[in-house]
Amino acid sequence: MSRTRRSVAPSRHTVTIDSLAFGGAGVARVDGKVAFVPGALPRETVVIEVVGRRRKFDRTKLIEVLTPSPDRRPALCPHVSLCGGCSLQELVYERQLEAKAQHVRDCLSRIGGLDVPESGPPVSSPRETRYRNKMEFTFQPRPWEETPPEVPGPGPALGLHVPGRFDAVFDLEECVLPSPRAVEVLKEVRAFAREHSLPAYRSRWDEGLLRHLVVREGHHTGELLVALVVREPEHILLELGPRLGERIPDLTGVVLIVNRTKASIAKGEQEQVLWGRPYFREKLAGIEFELGAQSFFQTNTAGAELLIDVLRESLDEALGSSPTQAPGPAGRRHGHLLDLYCGAGTLGLCLADRFDQVTGVEQVAEAVTSAQRTAERNGIEHVSFHVDDVERWVREGGPDQDPASPSRGIPGPFDVLVVDPPRAGLHPKALETLPWLGAGVIAYVSCNPATLARDAAGLVAAGYRPVGLRIVDLFPQTGHIESILTFRRIID
Ligand SMILES: C[S@@+](CC[C@H](N)C(=O)[O-])C[C@H]1O[C@@H](n2cnc3c(N)ncnc32)[C@H](O)[C@@H]1O
Repeated sequence: MSRTRRSVAPSRHTVTIDSLAFGGAGVARVDGKVAFVPGALPRETVVIEVVGRRRKFDRTKLIEVLTPSPDRRPALCPHVSLCGGCSLQELVYERQLEAKAQHVRDCLSRIGGLDVPESGPPVSSPRETRYRNKMEFTFQPRPWEETPPEVPGPGPALGLHVPGRFDAVFDLEECVLPSPRAVEVLKEVRAFAREHSLPAYRSRWDEGLLRHLVVREGHHTGELLVALVVREPEHILLELGPRLGERIPDLTGVVLIVNRTKASIAKGEQEQVLWGRPYFREKLAGIEFELGAQSFFQTNTAGAELLIDVLRESLDEALGSSPTQAPGPAGRRHGHLLDLYCGAGTLGLCLADRFDQVTGVEQVAEAVTSAQRTAERNGIEHVSFHVDDVERWVREGGPDQDPASPSRGIPGPFDVLVVDPPRAGLHPKALETLPWLGAGVIAYVSCNPATLARDAAGLVAAGYRPVGLRIVDLFPQTGHIESILTFRRIID
């Protein structure tokens, strides 16, 4: 049976905002039912219009702020009314961090049933704007609401999504998250697409050419890598590389990525260099990383450096060692570290000076190649990285042991586990098998407090005790937040 949304007659209400929901919308009650109000802040009295009804909540639009919060400030960006990205930008930064930290605590207690001690205060991002080293923009046939459908538009739109609309983007002119160079690249590519009347991809009909533009920058190196994601390679696109090379200072490379699937992702099975080289370099915690267009890397370089400091402190605390003790040449004292969902090896490589051995597992081959090249480039020899699905690797990755054992084939042993899964958290099979590895300490690095809380409850049931929580803001102006939860094994 197909689910259809009921259209509602617009209805207006004056409400007071109680709190902020995860993601940044204000939360109010209309006739006892929860209403989400994007753009409204706690304690504000506002006029809202209901634009969508669900069984448990209403979606609403902010019409007017009658009593503004003392914590409200002017928007940072001209696209605030159309873009869902920086949903907290009108709230002063200190309150953003407080609200997000509280959300992490609430998730752990409500979803996980856990009351975890915090080992330090929430950590602010060193930069509040211009902190992103990666932006993904999307093409659509025309800019959102620019012109009525019967009037020809200016050509393909290139920008960010209108919230809740997978098929609508607005033409981006400014953005406070990346450096101005990223927006310059966007404008050049959009102009090129319009000059050559190149069609944007339309997923409904699986037709068209241009899908995404990815701009990646090394904040410490100044290097810039551009990737254009298309449905099919086209001859005319060969002109784009040299054109960008000529016009964008410090450009390192331009690559074409072909994605023939219907999935709206800025990734693809085939890569072609249009100009320069297919990777850029970035430094983190003294290590120089070599990153391809499709490798995951922490998007806030300065914030990630703090995240690594905090991770070190959290591990020291969980392992019961003195944080002041410097790890000298003989100081690789924590044994074997397993870095699961390791991406380009960021965490494992940055922690390698504290361990005798580091093993990383990641499913994207290009990211593993980046990790291996980075290890080589930086002379880090006691690390190995494997391309595999974590669930499969944990179950089958090592040499066979007792054929009767349920944990037959498990690699290891490992002293410490760092897990940094995607937003969906640990696959149930991974959650089931991780405790078999027998690590004394687990550090769970998470960008989604809800799945962190769910998985934390699973680890507790499997014999681990949470010993410390740290919250680090890698995503100012947005509703996202990073946390590190450490566990110690209490059952052998
Ligand atoms: C949040 S990122 C963390 C990357 C890395 N730890 C870092 O700090 O840069 C999650 C990573 O998990 C990888 N991944 C997702 N599902 C996976 C799976 N089932 N098995 C292995 N890797 C997976 C993604 O490709 C991505 O690189």
